[in-house]
Amino acid sequence: MGERTQYHTTSRVNGADAMQIRRAILFGFIIFSTWPRHEGHKSLNSLLFRKIVTGFNTKYISLYESEISQDHSMVNFTLNFSRNITVDLWLRAAIGQQVSKREDTYRDVFSYNVNLCQVMGRGKGNSLINYWMNNVLRQSNMPRSCPIPEGNYYMRNIRSEKETIPRFIRSGSFRIDSNLYLRQWNNDNLTNTVFYIDIKMK
Ligand SMILES: *[C@@H]1O[C@H](CO)[C@@H](O)[C@H](O)[C@H]1NC(C)=O
Ligand SMILES: *[C@@H]1O[C@H](CO)[C@@H](O)[C@H](O)[C@H]1NC(C)=O
Ligand SMILES: *[C@@H]1O[C@H](CO)[C@@H](O)[C@H](O)[C@H]1NC(C)=O
Ligand SMILES: *[C@@H]1O[C@H](CO)[C@@H](O)[C@H](O)[C@H]1NC(C)=O
Repeated sequence: MGERTQYHTTSRVNGADAMQIRRAILFGFIIFSTWPRHEGHKSLNSLLFRKIVTGFNTKYISLYESEISQDHSMVNFTLNFSRNITVDLWLRAAIGQQVSKREDTYRDVFSYNVNLCQVMGRGKGNSLINYWMNNVLRQSNMPRSCPIPEGNYYMRNIRSEKETIPRFIRSGSFRIDSNLYLRQWNNDNLTNTVFYIDIKMK
């Protein structure tokens, strides 16, 4: 990604994981594009952010950081773009549930890969990804459509609400490994974000 690429922290996916992720991508994409969020019996009791590890590509981004509230329920992000992003913004994410605390190992739950510009374009959709998008943008100065002009953006007080978690999720600790990337610009990554969260369903 060029000499100016900078990642503060790396959290790489190994070959076997990557294959599983690819297999799950289509599955996840279907879930997140079409799944009505009110379906399901179990609901979220709490979602706590334990830790967030961020990295960014200095070719496009001058600052990317997150801050978790003291009670672990909310997150703020700062994202400063140093260039106009004139192609679509994609998000890939792999969600794993912790199986062993001692060995810090995770079992893949699902993955998805989605064109965020298309999701934003759809506006008031009823899918999970749409719900999360609105959740993230509710207290944000990010544009609601693409392209994304250079500038300094914030997303504040992001928290989970009852209908934001699919019903097949079991209570436990999770890791979400995600990238914002540019498919039309060599798949360049903009950001890398690893969320460590605790979920309690009731
Ligand atoms: C997030 O931003 C809001 C609004 O600026 C602020 O009140 C809150 O304290 C911030 N939270 C954290 C964890 O920094
Ligand atoms: C980014 O786009 C704005 C208009 O949308 C333009 O004025 C500016 O020159 C562009 N910046 C760069 C670095 O191309
Ligand atoms: C990022 O944006 C914030 C808010 O506008 C600004 O205070 C800060 O100086 C910017 N930092 C960088 C490195 O771009
Ligand atoms: C972007 O990040 C992912 C995961 O961190 C990595 O597998 C991929 O190779 C990166 N893409 C590029 C173009 O560097």
